[in-house]
Amino acid sequence: MSGVVYFDNAATTFPKPCKTLAALDEAMRRYGANPGRSGHKMSAACAEKVYECREKAAKLFGCTKTENVVFTSNCTHAVNLVINGVLRQGDHVVISDMEHNAVLRPIHHLAEQGEITYTVAESFEGDDIATVKSFCESIAPNTRLVAMSHASNVNGAVLPIEKIAKAAKEKGAYVLVDGAQSGGVLPIDMQQSGVDFLCLPGHKGLYGPMGTGMLLTSADDLPMASVFGGTGSSSLNYSQPDSLPDRLESGTLNAPGIIALGAGLDFVAQAGRENIRRHEERIAEYIVAHLKEMPRGRIELYGAEKFQQRRAAVISFNIAGRTGEETAELLNSYGIAVRGGYHCAPLAHKKLRTLDRGSCRISVGAFNNLRQADYLINAVKKISSLT
Ligand code: ALA
Repeated sequence: MSGVVYFDNAATTFPKPCKTLAALDEAMRRYGANPGRSGHKMSAACAEKVYECREKAAKLFGCTKTENVVFTSNCTHAVNLVINGVLRQGDHVVISDMEHNAVLRPIHHLAEQGEITYTVAESFEGDDIATVKSFCESIAPNTRLVAMSHASNVNGAVLPIEKIAKAAKEKGAYVLVDGAQSGGVLPIDMQQSGVDFLCLPGHKGLYGPMGTGMLLTSADDLPMASVFGGTGSSSLNYSQPDSLPDRLESGTLNAPGIIALGAGLDFVAQAGRENIRRHEERIAEYIVAHLKEMPRGRIELYGAEKFQQRRAAVISFNIAGRTGEETAELLNSYGIAVRGGYHCAPLAHKKLRTLDRGSCRISVGAFNNLRQADYLINAVKKISSLT
């Protein structure tokens, strides 16, 4: 097979839709002025395109106000805005046992500083009642925030965010959802789900370029600003503006990236989020079925059972006698791009008992097909017969 067979869509989707590429090119050529900083036509035209992207994101994720869509440089940046702009001295936080370092590290950092405490709630795949119970039992009177990834970046396991959000809100806690692996694939409606803060990358399931991300907040007054600077508004005021999105968008925006992200959102809307999900699931299920057929004991799969909205199209596995990184390196020699090793998620590796060797991760995107899946499966077969 010529070219790269790309199965690393959980890291960033590739290729990007033609629409995204064309919008990026057009943005650099036609909308090259700084949005919201000057009154001239070019600046206003760029600001309008940026606003259009906010509108599209608000619509896709059920955010009531367009201005409550805040652009960030990635999902981690959005998570940090929430953690640093919501938590106060003495607060307690609950996170899941599948968190990525995007959530774990900023929380752990504040805990190390003695500012907050946190509890890791256990999740039970396929047993929402037990998972919600575990979150409820972890919530304390001073719990201000429950932060959880929607879908694991290690094995795609999905948390019942609506049920957890309902329980958290009954106990007076805010809810942060890290939608890094679910945005654009699984349904998320902020109004219906009770999610207060939705953090998203622009460059994964929303098919924008790297360097883009978003925070969608349902609270007008939170998060408070933790990064300060020029916003193009209230310029004579020494204090940061209160209003959104300016309160959280200091400094020049990545306007070309945002405009291209707008085209990525169009791609998702036109292809249909649900169609993309089904397409990815079909390929992931096909791969899993073939991996399971391989001789007993040769392949270890980490929780790749049910898809159908219970799992994002992310598969983690190991070949007997090899680390995840070794398998990924060997697949690379076949021209196959996957991620091997530890996936910035120590809690998940602890839970999946892969702290000793990590895992090899296959992640499916909208542009994968069954021919590529066959090529991948055959390569895994050959590699596993070598050990
Ligand atoms: N968080 C991304 C991943 O899981 C980069 O690969």
